[in-house]
Amino acid sequence: MCGIVGYIGKKPAFPFLLSGLKRILYRGYDSFGFGVIGKENKLNCFKRPGKLDEWEQKLLEMNFEGNIGIAHTRWATTGTVTEANSHPHWDCHRNIFLVHNGIIENYKELKEKLEKEGHKFHSECDTEVLAHLIEKFFKGNLETAVRNALKFVRGTYGLAIIARNDPEKIVVARNSSPILIGIGENEYIVASDAAAIVDRTKKVIYLDDGEVAVLTPSRFFITDINQNQIEKNIKEIDWDLEEVQKGDYSHFMIKEIIEEPETIENAVRGRLMIEEGRVKLGGLDGIQEKLRKINRIILVACGTAGYAARVGEYMLEEYVGIPTEVDIASEFRYRKPVVDKNTAAIFVSQSGETADTLAALKEMKEKGILTIGITNVVGSTQSRETDAGVYTRSGPEIAVASTKAFLGQLAILSMLAVYLGRQREMALVMGKRIVSELTKLPELAKETLKSAPEIEKLAKKYKNFKNFWFIGRKYNFPIALEGALKLKEISYLHAEGVAGGELKHGPIALIDENFPTVAICPLDSVYEKMISNIQEIKAREGKVIAVATQGDKDIKKIADDVIYIPKTLEMLTPMLSVIPLHLFAYYIAVLLGHDVDKPRNLAKSCTVE
Ligand code: UD1
Ligand code: GLU
Ligand code: MG
Repeated sequence: MCGIVGYIGKKPAFPFLLSGLKRILYRGYDSFGFGVIGKENKLNCFKRPGKLDEWEQKLLEMNFEGNIGIAHTRWATTGTVTEANSHPHWDCHRNIFLVHNGIIENYKELKEKLEKEGHKFHSECDTEVLAHLIEKFFKGNLETAVRNALKFVRGTYGLAIIARNDPEKIVVARNSSPILIGIGENEYIVASDAAAIVDRTKKVIYLDDGEVAVLTPSRFFITDINQNQIEKNIKEIDWDLEEVQKGDYSHFMIKEIIEEPETIENAVRGRLMIEEGRVKLGGLDGIQEKLRKINRIILVACGTAGYAARVGEYMLEEYVGIPTEVDIASEFRYRKPVVDKNTAAIFVSQSGETADTLAALKEMKEKGILTIGITNVVGSTQSRETDAGVYTRSGPEIAVASTKAFLGQLAILSMLAVYLGRQREMALVMGKRIVSELTKLPELAKETLKSAPEIEKLAKKYKNFKNFWFIGRKYNFPIALEGALKLKEISYLHAEGVAGGELKHGPIALIDENFPTVAICPLDSVYEKMISNIQEIKAREGKVIAVATQGDKDIKKIADDVIYIPKTLEMLTPMLSVIPLHLFAYYIAVLLGHDVDKPRNLAKSCTVE
């Protein structure tokens, strides 16, 4: 999920590693590490949790010798943030050293097997199994060992690997996690992100999935996992350093919105079992029997995570049939919650450090209730304090206003509905329908993003209005709340979300030609009701921007502007309908000249009450 840099050539490797890594720190990380092969094939290694700049001086003083090395910034997915879990990882004989981006899905099985064969592990990190697995196949040639080992690996990886006993090379491999090779004069630089190399060379080769590259100081070659030679074209990067500090993007927020399809994909990866119409949530294995017995669910969260929880309530009640309620953590912790031993409390937080949510969690533990976490940050307080949980694997989210993490939370909640539903009355066919639709969702989300240029135009048209309503019903009512919150947070315009049916109970009094409404009205079970609401608004001269399903031509006749999203199951629609709303908020804030990534008065994670 984070960063890799590698160097092989005639010059000292360390300065390349350090400067490369510094240029990709923007992606966020929790630990860093370096490994350089020095004199007599000794490996100099230094890795730590925390910030690189705090250690930079010490690193420079350490005077790493050697012309071959690898470096990494980690964003933990497996195993907490500790020195042992940071990269490089190595094998029993400290021969193989490697850095890895991604997740090894079958690491538990592999680890058990390797342990039985006598391998000694020193960390909890999934990456370490790769070092031992390569060790198992190592007979003097690193690339052969890597190819043989990777045949047993399931998961995502970008990898850079070196070996003291085959020292004149770096082996690089890729599956679903980007990695490229920068080509210099008698030297190669490996990186997970072009930003790490553009000041050194503009010539690159992008590895594709299933490819293994071998780099020596004088040449390189690429094969597939079965050793078939692959010819690749060298590409020219045509951008300058300034442009790539945040990758291709002008703000983290737009980068993170564009990562929304990938976020869904990472959340569901390895967890969907289409044929069985089930999901595998390893984090809930230990409480499976307890979950069969629960008859009430309380979802607790704050802000955007609270809106994900509200979508979760609709999902769980419709597909699991368990009475579910959502509470804002800051309220929940101070009121008298009525719970009994068959209640489960689910806490949703991106950081896992949200103070109000943690306080509510403490209250529930006090009462002896089953507690479950939906969390992005591995090893965070929430993930440690809950009885069990599921990680969202959304990757680091840097913009203060949450976007992609929300999609990760929705994806987990939809899988939770299948998990609990299949424990109860949900039929196989229904399980299959949801699971197979979930596999398509990342593609549909990508398609949704294509309307970005249109949304930018709409932002130009609407940026001078001071007030906005966002309306939706059922699954899209919480999305109306989220759309309004996002606009408030970064554009400082006044926006409110309201359930379509509530308009006539008060809010409609405000509507006139200066108070536009964003109406989320996909073709679902409440479509007609939403159309009535839109008509009520039009009758009062309110402008309407509709978020509608592709193919719905009628909507164009009543709404002023329409943004189309692809069709999916009603319960999954929020994961598509929210994307244009995130984009809308983003473009308006940019046009108004605000500091999009760091909006005034807000903090990324509210660790105080
Ligand atoms: C785990 C590994 C994953 C590996 C898979 C293979 C971790 C973090 N994940 O994923 O890398 O590919 O096994 O079998 O090691 N938890 C909480 N509270 C929370 C979130 C999580 O208690 O808020 C707990 C879970 O109950 C579980 C552990 O953390 O014990 C890991 O959760 P998760 O990553 O979701 O589990 P798996 O998908 O099984
Ligand atoms: N799964 C690995 C870990 O937890 C790699 C994480 C990353 O991509 O940074 O260390
Ligand atoms: Mg309810």
